[in-house]
Amino acid sequence: MTLGSRSYQIAVGNGLLKQLGALCDELLLSRRVMIVTNPAVGRLYGAKAAVSLRRAGFQVGTTEIPAGERAKSLRRAAGLYQAFLQNRMDRRSAVVALGGGVIGDLAGYAAATFLRGLPLIQVPTTLLAQVDSSVGGKVAVNLPAGKNLVGAFYQPSLVVADVLTLRSLPPRQMRAGLAEVVKYGMIADRELFAYVEMHLDSILRAEEEPLTHLVTRSCAIKAHVVEQDEREEGMRAILNFGHTVGHALETAAGYQRLLHGEAIAIGMMVATMLSVNRGLCEREELDRLRTLLVRIGLPTRASVNQSSFLQTIRYDKKVRNQMIYFVLTKGIGHAMLAAISDPGELRAAISAAWSL
Ligand SMILES: NC(=O)c1ccc[n+]([C@@H]2O[C@H](COP(=O)([O-])OP(=O)(O)OC[C@H]3O[C@@H](n4cnc5c(N)ncnc54)[C@H](O)[C@@H]3O)[C@@H](O)[C@H]2O)c1
Ligand SMILES: [Zn+2]
Repeated sequence: MTLGSRSYQIAVGNGLLKQLGALCDELLLSRRVMIVTNPAVGRLYGAKAAVSLRRAGFQVGTTEIPAGERAKSLRRAAGLYQAFLQNRMDRRSAVVALGGGVIGDLAGYAAATFLRGLPLIQVPTTLLAQVDSSVGGKVAVNLPAGKNLVGAFYQPSLVVADVLTLRSLPPRQMRAGLAEVVKYGMIADRELFAYVEMHLDSILRAEEEPLTHLVTRSCAIKAHVVEQDEREEGMRAILNFGHTVGHALETAAGYQRLLHGEAIAIGMMVATMLSVNRGLCEREELDRLRTLLVRIGLPTRASVNQSSFLQTIRYDKKVRNQMIYFVLTKGIGHAMLAAISDPGELRAAISAAWSL
């Protein structure tokens, strides 16, 4: 990722966890580091990460946070500040976020704010975190009113994505992560979309080669977009394809029932239907998207009360001056931003997408 003095390496590969210490050693860090993880990920990979860091000469503390989206809270962030104090972290002590997007966002938020910013090392262990949340510098916690309402732009100092860790990922999590890969295909890379279509079976078997390709390509697309618009003043918003409706669904479903990627799959269907209805995109492209999502095992429609969930869109950050800013598609591989002022247009697209 090239962002002037805030540039950083995104290392992607098989078995990279063993090199975590050596990779961190290349940065200007003090000897004390803190791994933030959850019990499940800690049990699988905590020791491997700690051993690698110790071999490189670091003193390693570990803090565990309960699993689940609910942990992305101000209360848990405050718990991390306490742990940082107890570990006597200084301004060059790194926070190592070992886990999925929840750990990355929460530990990242705590790292961004403690002592006005500690170095952050992202070690993503879910497909979603490897292709999306660990890269780009958005960190956040949730409020009861909605997801990610409190946060910062805070770039990590290093990202280490070991695709070997994806072998232990529950299939449902793997499928949800693929929704973000499909998103990159939709907004920027027709070939990536076709690659997922072609190699889906080996991807779902967590084979090294296709996963390394997906993660590398996805990170490259995200880095390219973020490099041009780090703080989402314009183009970065295209990364939110499927997310306006997706976030609203997550909120309406009470954070628990739908995984992030599942909500995004449904959101992409609505955004593409809107695009078809506006004559921007061929109907065949929508069918191709739907076919791939179904093959992956992702939902393409939701069973929520439409009016109650449309309300939650109003609190979303994409709403400005009563207009909802939507990412639409001009066909697989091409995104564009558009304003939607007529709620009827959105309602019609939702109905049409969900009756397919
Ligand atoms: N910051 C960003 O730019 C950004 C982008 C997209 C999503 N997000 C956020 O990411 C979060 C979702 O992240 P997620 O999908 O990774 O969910 P998650 O962090 O909850 O992880 C999913 C589950 O998988 C388990 N797990 C993680 N790695 C594992 C492994 N290797 N083997 C076995 N189990 C493993 C975890 O314990 C957890 O139960 C949401 O809060 C979302 O808002 C942030
Ligand atoms: Zn997302």
